[in-house]
Amino acid sequence: MSADDEIVNPSHGPRFTDLLALAASRRQLLKLGAAGAALALFGRSGAAADAPAAAAAPAAALAGLPGFTAIATSTEDTVRVPPGYEWAVLTRWGDPVGAQAGQPRWRSDAGNDAAEQALQFGMHHDGMALFPLGTDGTRALLALNHEYVDHGLLFADGMDGWSAAKVAKSMAAHGVSVVELVQADGRWSVVSPSQYARRITAATPMRLAGPAAGHALLATAADPQAQTVLGTFNNCACGQTPWGTYLSCEENFNGYFARTAGEPTALEKRYGIKDKSDYRWHEHEPRFDPALHPNEAHRFGWVVEIDPHDPAAVPVKRTALGRFKHENAAVTLAADGRVVVYLGDDQANEYLYRYVSKGRYTPGMARAAAGALLDDGILFVAHFGADGHGEWRALVHGRDGLDAGNGFADQAEVLVKTRLAADVRGATKLDRTEWVAIHPGRAEVAVTLTNNSGRKSADAADPRAPNPHGHILRWRPDGADHAADGFAWEVFVLAGDPQAEDASARGNQPGLNAANTDAAFSSPDGLAFDARGLLWIETDVSTGKLWHPQLAPKQGAYQVFGNNQLLVANPDTGEIRRFLTGPVGCELTGIAFSPDLRTLFVNIQHPGEPLDANTEFNDPTAPQRWSQWPDGPGGGRPRSATLAIRRTDGGPVGS
Ligand code: FEO
Ligand code: CA
Ligand code: CA
Repeated sequence: MSADDEIVNPSHGPRFTDLLALAASRRQLLKLGAAGAALALFGRSGAAADAPAAAAAPAAALAGLPGFTAIATSTEDTVRVPPGYEWAVLTRWGDPVGAQAGQPRWRSDAGNDAAEQALQFGMHHDGMALFPLGTDGTRALLALNHEYVDHGLLFADGMDGWSAAKVAKSMAAHGVSVVELVQADGRWSVVSPSQYARRITAATPMRLAGPAAGHALLATAADPQAQTVLGTFNNCACGQTPWGTYLSCEENFNGYFARTAGEPTALEKRYGIKDKSDYRWHEHEPRFDPALHPNEAHRFGWVVEIDPHDPAAVPVKRTALGRFKHENAAVTLAADGRVVVYLGDDQANEYLYRYVSKGRYTPGMARAAAGALLDDGILFVAHFGADGHGEWRALVHGRDGLDAGNGFADQAEVLVKTRLAADVRGATKLDRTEWVAIHPGRAEVAVTLTNNSGRKSADAADPRAPNPHGHILRWRPDGADHAADGFAWEVFVLAGDPQAEDASARGNQPGLNAANTDAAFSSPDGLAFDARGLLWIETDVSTGKLWHPQLAPKQGAYQVFGNNQLLVANPDTGEIRRFLTGPVGCELTGIAFSPDLRTLFVNIQHPGEPLDANTEFNDPTAPQRWSQWPDGPGGGRPRSATLAIRRTDGGPVGS
């Protein structure tokens, strides 16, 4: 969402000593050449660390890449995949989730009401995770986020006659879907009806847990004990625990609150709460007006744990994981079994976090008991040293200035004000941390920094100012232990146009040269390693920047990237290839693999989002102005959808 470009962090810049070290590291970067620097620390095979010419290797010489032909960019209103692959739509906004027999069908005129929407897939698919059922590979549960909505598509007359009924439908189109899938002859479909199917919406009761549960800062008139919150929304990306639960992450929750009287507090400003909301829920649901209900916003911005195996399980907001604009929650185990969760805060100049549990996970633990490991532990924030070594700085009440004198009365307040606590610890301001991905075979982690056009000065971890196209960092924890206090880090790749004259916009993907734009991309967002260790990269060039022939020459600098796309990187060689291009106006979100790697699931989010207006809402009188995907001219309106992608010969995807 474009509001993430806004900078609300007024805290200190880098210290002078950091800048001196930065100058040295930048000299080194120039000496090596950008691609050489990106290859240096982790000693990739197949490319010389000190050879600037590595950036100009011809495509034919690339080694170790997956066995598919990279595809060209596209501005067409369809999905393109490499030769030998096919895609099918698995779920769409409005399709029944299978929660009961005889459910309401989707109406292409947007005529479904709130109660019907609450039995159908929500809008704007984002993070998702697959949970195999049984061991024969034919059944699974899919949990799927619905991040936000387009009121121009959700209602036949848009926001005209704004009403409680429209707010209820908007809230029902948010949240999470859990559905059952079945596979036959290599093709997956949704089971309907299914005992597992459920919708979780912006009105579903959920339990608060962890240090902030029961705290006065979360108490409201409707919930004076601060135990039960109604709903979750702006569920962006996700995580999956070793014990089989789904973590759904609340991102731009601020956009649903509007303070109708008085000045926003300093805390509200830091989290971006303003005097108006595009969603206008507050006009019929007063809890979204902080002037009337000042603590309601403190109950959002958390990570929500959902048990997809039990449709009656109450979702749990795990407050120990901090309150900010959560992107995803990448879960792994430390060497001793403690649970480690990496967490991004997606806003320009905000931070990267890590949680380490106090207790240890042991295989076979009951899901509810294991979930409690997310309630008692330490949240840390990252500092990236200019010498290539970083450290995790703990956010613990009573230590390092996190005390009452600085506005933190207790640990709950540290967590409600996570961003402010991280300021005190001198965290590194980053260029919008999106997804974190953990390598399946070694202690290595990567994070997308999607872009930061407003960056004024470079630093080691954010080496371009401005940074219109973003980059990917990666690190290895000291001692190969995710619970270690330190880590070695490097820039994995700078995204951008390899031909850009302006260095701040130039990509350094190895193999890119004038004849090879197979890996030109901007604004990396979704990120996941598959079981083989290949790194899949999804892009999110905002719709205000996407190039389109109808708008040319506007946004000409983005023409080289085309529509948003999915690429595959080999982390050992740095090589990257384009695997998929999406329809007009979409971004790629969510990624999951079948256990046999023969099906890749990705989401097409917001096809047809307007490219020519500063709004995420379509004109309701022209819902197909930008896209007719996936249903074509007779489909009424574009719909976010999950794709199931397979090789036509049934082999593993990407190999
Ligand atoms: Fe919802 Fe940061 O993407
Ligand atoms: Ca994202
Ligand atoms: Ca994004």
